Amino acid sequence: MTLRDRIEIMHGTNLDMLGRREPEHYGTMTLVELENRVGGFARELGLKARFFQTNHEGEFVEHLHGLDGLADGIVLNPGAWTHYAWAIRDALEIAGLPAVEVHLSDVASREAFRRTSVVSDLCVATVSGLGPEGYRDALVRLKEELS
Ligand code: DQA
Repeated sequence: MTLRDRIEIMHGTNLDMLGRREPEHYGTMTLVELENRVGGFARELGLKARFFQTNHEGEFVEHLHGLDGLADGIVLNPGAWTHYAWAIRDALEIAGLPAVEVHLSDVASREAFRRTSVVSDLCVATVSGLGPEGYRDALVRLKEELS
């Protein structure tokens, strides 16, 4: 059986501002620190993680288009795009890979607009409100899905 262990970890808009942005919701870790932590979780689970972040919706879409043959699964935190970006939803569907949606903050207990996700029904799971640890849960879930 071929090993399916390549996970693309994708962060969307404003997540490059982690460490400077509302620590009460997002904690104090920078994106680089978060990626290092998530890379560690992936190694512990025997997965290979690759990271991507952009503030440009079209780049996020094109990155999803380019995953064919390069990734086996996706962990995505699209930031605010989660709540309205139908083009990202369509691109995720085109990618056709198992995906888990992650949010650092508990989106269900914040403003009403954050309770809508245009990607959640395409994802095998959604993890929200667990901070960086939520990415470990997402990887565990994805590993189950890929094995
Ligand atoms: C977020 C939640 C979104 O509502 C918000 O727009 C973000 C980050 C999170 O990780 O909690 O940018 O996805």
